[in-house]
Amino acid sequence: MTTTDNAVEQSAIDHSAAATSPTAADSGASASASFRSTSQYSGAGAVSDTARVDTLARALLGAVHQVISEHEVTYPEFQAAKKWLMDVGDGGEWPLFLDVFVEHAVEEVAARTQTGTKGTILGPYYLPEQVQLTSPATLPARPDEKGTPLLFRGQVTDTDGSPVPHAVLDIWQADEKGYYSGFAPDIPSGNLRGVVTTDDQGRFEIATIQPAPYQVPTDGPTGALISAAGWHPWRPAHLHLLVSAEGHRTVTTQLYFAGGEYLDSDVAEATKPELILDPTDAGNGTREVTYDFVLERN
Ligand code: DHB
Ligand code: FE
Repeated sequence: MTTTDNAVEQSAIDHSAAATSPTAADSGASASASFRSTSQYSGAGAVSDTARVDTLARALLGAVHQVISEHEVTYPEFQAAKKWLMDVGDGGEWPLFLDVFVEHAVEEVAARTQTGTKGTILGPYYLPEQVQLTSPATLPARPDEKGTPLLFRGQVTDTDGSPVPHAVLDIWQADEKGYYSGFAPDIPSGNLRGVVTTDDQGRFEIATIQPAPYQVPTDGPTGALISAAGWHPWRPAHLHLLVSAEGHRTVTTQLYFAGGEYLDSDVAEATKPELILDPTDAGNGTREVTYDFVLERN
């Protein structure tokens, strides 16, 4: 990627953050720009084996042909699908669409060889290089940040139970309206995002707020498909985490909230029973919860 590409993509992100009326096109395009500039996750060079490409491309096209044949897809339906696919690209919604409807299947394959804390999807709203904090930490928030205060504590150990000193929790979440900083207008950059280093016993304490459920933008092509199919566009409230430590396999995961809406009908099919927090009342309107992470050694 050239410097110019980076500058263009960066300005796309900044533009959306400064816009005044949120649209799906904004968050979709921001997610696209973010994906392209986060080379760590772009998988560049992952697909270089001709035989593998042949196998996967053939299987994928075969699955499409099978659906067309089995469901007797008509020409008008084929042309409508073509237009919709073009709209997803034009609106920059491919990362959004793929992370909602496809990523969980890739994660389930990765999980087959993973022990320790369960992983789940990364989603399109991760941003690297956020503020570095040391536990006990408070995530950056607006002075008038809405939402129930949450104290999130725990310890990072390895699979045989020994503490992992100075493990790192890269955490990001939506606000009390379900919006992510960097992708929605009027939220300061870096809000409710932070990279927290645990103590020398792997322990952490992070003060934040409980996020709201997240709604896939309804005004773009992804939303159009969801509504045309009669589905709902919601994900249950969640915290995102990348938990890492030297010599250990990074866990990409999310934590959900017991009793929350959409836990059993996540549009992204990314919940797991092991990933549900059940915070208790800590007085003064604050909730608290303990969750321990287990990392595999490399
Ligand atoms: C999407 C959004 C999320 O917040 C998430 O965790 C997963 C997917 C999405 O809109 O693609
Ligand atoms: Fe999310």
